[in-house]
Amino acid sequence: MERVLAPVMAFLHGETPARWTAEARRPERLAVVLQDHLLCELKAAQTAVWLLRRYALDKAGSERLQGWIRPFEDRVYRPHLLQGKQLMVSEVTPAGLSCRPDAPLAAPLVEKMVRLIKEELHHFEQVRELMLARGVAIEPIRASRYAASLMQLVRSGDPWVLVDRLIIGAYIEARSCERFAALAPYMDEELQRFYLSLLRSEARHYQDYLALAQMASPEPIDERVREIGEAEWRLIAEPDPLFRFHSGVPSDL
Ligand SMILES: [Fe+2]
Ligand SMILES: [Fe+2]
Repeated sequence: MERVLAPVMAFLHGETPARWTAEARRPERLAVVLQDHLLCELKAAQTAVWLLRRYALDKAGSERLQGWIRPFEDRVYRPHLLQGKQLMVSEVTPAGLSCRPDAPLAAPLVEKMVRLIKEELHHFEQVRELMLARGVAIEPIRASRYAASLMQLVRSGDPWVLVDRLIIGAYIEARSCERFAALAPYMDEELQRFYLSLLRSEARHYQDYLALAQMASPEPIDERVREIGEAEWRLIAEPDPLFRFHSGVPSDL
């Protein structure tokens, strides 16, 4: 576990404050931790779908990809549509995803993002099953400020939109990995095992995003990575009135 976490910790500008962990481990917070986690897995998949549609796939490829993810979105946002419908993570494969001829990064994006989507949807199913078993309601809850605040940093015009979104993707994945590790020791045995099982894939996701960001950029990205990393750390270290999986130090509690 330490070998997986060491690069993540070196990439992040600071570790989860003890006051967040103290709040997150309170039994009455478990439902919101699971509800927000479920949405985070879905949003991670949706972000990768957005990137593929905008920077790689042609119309047929986009439609195919959307067809895969829609039933998972329906699980949260349109549950009435899903009577008895099966979700098929195994159907998600790069085969048959046709790309635009003018998309220079299409091949590495498809390779890395399709695997990521598949893994996030699998995590989504794992969280959902845990919630069903524990009687936690599956419903959308208000998002934290975290991802929206990071998205405000995205510069305009390409390749900068792509570069910044990829760097932000790297930070969200790295922070998620660090938070699962921080929270695991305080959870019951089943959740502890589950959180630790997520570390390896989340650590790889952050590295894949970072590698793609360097590929997408005509110049070194170190400076931009540092700027976004500082902003990310402020969102984690500063007081935050709304407790969520990626929230800052709990305030007003
Ligand atoms: Fe995940
Ligand atoms: Fe991930």
